[in-house]
Amino acid sequence: MAQIFTASADTRLRAAALLGVVALVMALVVLGGYADSSYATLVGWVEHQPVPFSHQHHVGELGIDCRYCHAAAETGAHAGLPSTFTCMTCHSQVWTGAPMLAPVRASLASGKPLEWQRVARLPDYVYFDHSIHLSRGVPCVTCHGRVDRMPLMSRAQPFQMQWCLDCHRNPAPHLRPPAEITRMDWSNWDEEPGIHAVYGELMTKVYGIEPAKLTQCNICHR
Ligand code: HEC
Ligand code: HEC
Ligand code: HEC
Ligand code: HEC
Ligand code: HEC
Repeated sequence: MAQIFTASADTRLRAAALLGVVALVMALVVLGGYADSSYATLVGWVEHQPVPFSHQHHVGELGIDCRYCHAAAETGAHAGLPSTFTCMTCHSQVWTGAPMLAPVRASLASGKPLEWQRVARLPDYVYFDHSIHLSRGVPCVTCHGRVDRMPLMSRAQPFQMQWCLDCHRNPAPHLRPPAEITRMDWSNWDEEPGIHAVYGELMTKVYGIEPAKLTQCNICHR
């Protein structure tokens, strides 16, 4: 009777099994890398916007405060995006006929808001609130980066759970006087090494911040 499995078939089977294992390991390595890569975290990615609005120009060069356009940041869960009317407080006087601003004028005329593509966004199952962070003096720049240097908005931080937790475990070094939250540079404090820590430790006590409580699941998953 002929052998069903020849010696060489056995070798081929072993080789195939080995290849399978190697492929699995490689897939895991690639997937693991994917979770941390900018493809997954979207750090640095730019969205195509209806108008190429420049924070670098409006914030960095013209010096407009964040709250002029993101008025709800200090008082509510969401910072909000500006209405067409907010743009028109200036653009009814400056750059009135510019082709680049045609969608803004069309939006004002039709009453249909501009459809900005979101850059900073969490999944729906995560609870986040701007006002609590800003009232404790966590500045915009810590979470959104040097917006004043962005000709087009991009995401500065991964916005993954680990990133939130890293700060919640020890928020002290990130705290500033609440009046300074929208300032992008912080050079006058950086010249005094140690001042961040001293201020942060003090304010952690004043606000009664408890890192042990801040890392509990139901703080962010309600
Ligand atoms: C406080 C005033 C002010 C507000 C509010 C404002 N802009 Fe501007 N914007 C300016 C000035 C000043 C310029 C520069 C005009 C020039 O270079 O002659 C400008 C330039 C621009 C430009 C030209 C490209 C550039 O950045 O140089 C675009 C596009 C623009 N603005 C879009 C907007 C949009 C969209 C809004 C609303 C979300 C808005 N602006 C709100 C003052 C403002
Ligand atoms: C003149 C108005 C204006 C000012 C001032 C302004 N922004 Fe914006 N911001 C916008 C507009 C319009 C968008 C939506 C288009 C875009 O993403 O570029 C936006 C988008 C953003 C986004 C992305 C939100 C998302 O999920 O898509 C962040 C973060 C942001 N701004 C932070 C800031 C910070 C921080 C400051 C102050 C340092 C600031 N902005 C000042 C008009 C403004
Ligand atoms: C502790 C981190 C943190 C700080 C500080 C912070 N943001 Fe945000 N911001 C976020 C996160 C996270 C989101 C996404 C929220 C979501 O999708 O629910 C966001 C979203 C936004 C958006 C998109 C619209 C919205 O309301 O969701 C804007 C605009 C914005 N932030 C502006 C600001 C400005 C301006 C400041 C400072 C005055 C600021 N943020 C401070 C983390 C922060
Ligand atoms: C740079 C520091 C920092 C980062 C980053 C940060 N937080 Fe916070 N968070 C704080 C501080 C400080 C408080 C205020 C704690 C207090 O007063 O007890 C706070 C409070 C909160 C609260 C309110 C807790 C309560 O008692 O109601 C929620 C919810 C929250 N953070 C969610 C998030 C989420 C989600 C992220 C990530 C997307 C995040 N935070 C990122 C510093 C941070
Ligand atoms: C400070 C805020 C914060 C706390 C506290 C927190 N999470 Fe999360 N969690 C997040 C954010 C933000 C995401 C979204 C991550 C993303 O989009 O990549 C997330 C995502 C998740 C997910 C989805 C899968 C994943 O990892 O992306 C699970 C499951 C989860 N959290 C479980 C927990 C559990 C269990 C705890 C308590 C031990 C906890 N979380 C505490 C902020 C938090």
